[in-house]
Amino acid sequence: MRLSDDIEKVLISEEQLEQINEELAAQLSKDYADKNPIFVCVLKGAVLFLTDLVRKMDIPVEIEFMDVSSYGDGIKSSGDVKILKDLDVSVAGRDVVFIEDIVDTGLTLAALTELFKTRNAKSIKICTLLDKKENRQVNVKSDYIGTTVPNEFVVGYGLDYAEKYRNLPYIGVLKPEIYQN
Ligand code: PRP
Repeated sequence: MRLSDDIEKVLISEEQLEQINEELAAQLSKDYADKNPIFVCVLKGAVLFLTDLVRKMDIPVEIEFMDVSSYGDGIKSSGDVKILKDLDVSVAGRDVVFIEDIVDTGLTLAALTELFKTRNAKSIKICTLLDKKENRQVNVKSDYIGTTVPNEFVVGYGLDYAEKYRNLPYIGVLKPEIYQN
C-alpha cells in the first residue's frame, strides 16, 4: 500500500516545514545562545521535528527523551497521561525546552510542566510544531509555535494514526474513512 493514498489533503508541505523549522531554530538560537538548554523531546511524535530543528542550530543544545502516552491507538484523548520513559538526567537548575509535535487538549504538556517544576528546572518553555487551539481542555501556552492547525485528524512528519503515517515527509489530513471503520 501507499501511505499517501490515505491522505485527503496536504496541510503543511515539506517546503513549509523546512521554512517553519528555520524560523523556530533562529529564534531558539537567539534566546538560548549562552544557556546550554536541555531539549526534552516527547516521544514518539516529536522525533522528526527535533532532529530537523536541532540541525539548524549552531549553539550547544543537550537532547533528552521522555515517552509519555495519553492516546493509545484511538483518536480521542483519554486525559490519562502516563510516563513510559523518564529522563536519564537531572533538570534541577537547567533551562528546559519541551519539544512537541502537537499540543491538542494540552493535558500532556500541563502534566509535564507541573512535574518539571517539582524537579526545580530553572526555566521551562514549550516549543511545538503544531498547535490545535480549538481542542484545548487546560490552559497551556506554548512559547514557540510552528503553526496552528484546524481540528482535523492530522498525520505525518512524526504524527501517527495507530502507529502508521509517521514517516510521511509532510503533514496531511487523514481520509475520514480510515479512522471511521
Ligand atoms: C501526542 C503528541 C503529544 C500529545 C498531545 O502524543 O505527541 O505528546 O499527544 O496531546 P494533548 O495536548 O491532548 O495531551 P501521543 O500520546 O499520541 O503519543 P506519540 O507521540 O507517541 O504518538
